[in-house]
Amino acid sequence: MEIKAPRGTHDIMPDEIQAWQYVEGIIRDHCAHYGYSEARTPVFEHTEVFSRGVGDTTDIVQKEMYTFNDKGNRSITLRPENTAGLVRAFLEHHLQNEPLPIKLYYLSAPMFRYENPQSGRYRQFYQFGVEAYGAPAPSCDAEVVSLAWTLLQKLGIHDLELHINSIGCPKCRPAFQEKLKAYFRQYEGQLCQTCLERLDRNPLRIIDCKSPVCTDIVRDAPTMLDSLCGECQSHFDTLKAYFDAMGIAYVVDPMIVRGLDYYTKTVFEIVSKDIGAQGTVCGGGRYDMLVSQMGGPEMAGVGFAFGMERLLMVMQSLGLLPKRAPLCDVYVAALPDEAARMAAFALCASLRAQGVKAEVDHVSRSLKAQLKHAGKIGSRACVIIGADELAAGVVKLRDMQRGEEQAIAMETATEAIAAILK
Ligand code: HAM
Repeated sequence: MEIKAPRGTHDIMPDEIQAWQYVEGIIRDHCAHYGYSEARTPVFEHTEVFSRGVGDTTDIVQKEMYTFNDKGNRSITLRPENTAGLVRAFLEHHLQNEPLPIKLYYLSAPMFRYENPQSGRYRQFYQFGVEAYGAPAPSCDAEVVSLAWTLLQKLGIHDLELHINSIGCPKCRPAFQEKLKAYFRQYEGQLCQTCLERLDRNPLRIIDCKSPVCTDIVRDAPTMLDSLCGECQSHFDTLKAYFDAMGIAYVVDPMIVRGLDYYTKTVFEIVSKDIGAQGTVCGGGRYDMLVSQMGGPEMAGVGFAFGMERLLMVMQSLGLLPKRAPLCDVYVAALPDEAARMAAFALCASLRAQGVKAEVDHVSRSLKAQLKHAGKIGSRACVIIGADELAAGVVKLRDMQRGEEQAIAMETATEAIAAILK
């Protein structure tokens, strides 16, 4: 039986990896411009990190986590997201004692969710995300969103919508939740089973339900924006003013509540229309209670995560990904005899030491077949070490595009070829 990758997972093979590395390079550079440093945390954490952090009434915790007991009988979970795990690391490394804000990012970090796989939705997927700790001001929300927005511009993606909302804070949300409960109770006979269960514990989650009946009911539900306290209202208004000042267009969308429980005040999503149903390339928001909920001090937080596959899908659909670049500048082809092969091997090694991408034959091809192979792998140039060249103490350098050839003395070949290829 042929063994296949598990459902909802995918391999990233050499024909794709250069596109990933291209995007990753731009992201790293962009994060550095905004003062973010990279952090890498484990792909598994104690289950409690997510049940406490993400919230045990969320779909992620209730239905989607890969949780198991390890051999020491500890409950372990493959991370479904990275915000809670990074807060765990932030506290473990006492970053709250460092000058604030602390600004971290993670890149192409694997996440695991037991979801129904479809285009743009996987069971193992990769995220790029940023998290800023210790800055309660709306300017930090604005900076985080603008980092995402300007990154997308830099990557060449312009046809996007930024949806923003505020879901309040522990001061104003409880009264709103009571209003929501009263509203949804009128429809108890129609709500889906999951939403019925959520009604008392977390009615906000019902707004996120995708079932057509619940979606219809949600349409006329009261919105948090009408119930914000003075502080949340002013935070939201100032944030919008920052967007206006930066020329970032947004849609205020009261239906954005996000599928994770840690958010307070700002929530946002960036949606692309280029890849169909799973068009949300980036989602995030503020989480001012999470650090204290995880056992730390009171500490503001705000961040987002991109789905890397979705980002690459958008770029692919817009033709924004670079063509695969050849991995070889020069192929050193030699007669299949011992002396010529040895000379080719040595020249290849010294060219590599000079920073030239060089290749040499390892599968006993004839000289003619080596030249053909050099063409196939897209080598810009070929060095030929044949019987005549060996006798004359030279090598022949052939430009593969123009077909032009020149003889170069063997002793100076490395420096001369490196200089020509630069
Ligand atoms: P999230 O909305 O659950 O937020 O995920 C962020 C992004 O990851 C989504 O917008 C989507 O692009 C991608 N994504 C999510 N699930 C999948 C999947 N099954 N397959 C492919 N891509 C997926 C979070 O994870 C939060 N931790 C974001 C955050 C950071 N909030 C504050 N800081």
